[in-house]
Amino acid sequence: MVNSARLASIALLAGCVACATGPRRIPEADYPREGQALAQRACTPCHAVSRDQATRPIPDRHTPGFAEIAQAPGTTAESLRRFLRTTHAATSGPLRMPSPMLDEGQMTLIVSYILSLRGQDRPG
Ligand code: HEC
Repeated sequence: MVNSARLASIALLAGCVACATGPRRIPEADYPREGQALAQRACTPCHAVSRDQATRPIPDRHTPGFAEIAQAPGTTAESLRRFLRTTHAATSGPLRMPSPMLDEGQMTLIVSYILSLRGQDRPG
């Protein structure tokens, strides 16, 4: 018979190992795909994130689509990070971009997704 207290302690230990190693590691080749999935959850209310997103952005916000952002000549990984770290609707105006509150890992995924759209057609 399996001792449930022992099972629980194994589960606890497994949990701690997961804590110690941080979030699951994503291979770099998957960054754009993971970034797209994340952006589809967090950014679609206001942006055209990709061609196949389920909902259209709120129409009265004139936000650039992600493909458009990717094509802009001034866009670099650093410029995107700087914008995502500093933008804040509360101080720059109510219809401006709110702080997306991304952690470093999420930022890396989303930036790599946006830059992967360079050279592709605009979505939708
Ligand atoms: C509540 C609406 C809203 C949401 C949600 C939102 N954005 Fe924005 N975003 C804007 C607006 C509006 C702008 C245009 C610039 C401004 O007014 O701040 C913008 C601009 C940007 C720009 C700069 C484009 C440029 O011209 O350089 C980037 C990059 C960006 N958003 C990324 C994101 C990402 C990534 C997410 C999701 C994590 C996101 N946005 C979620 C409203 C939003």
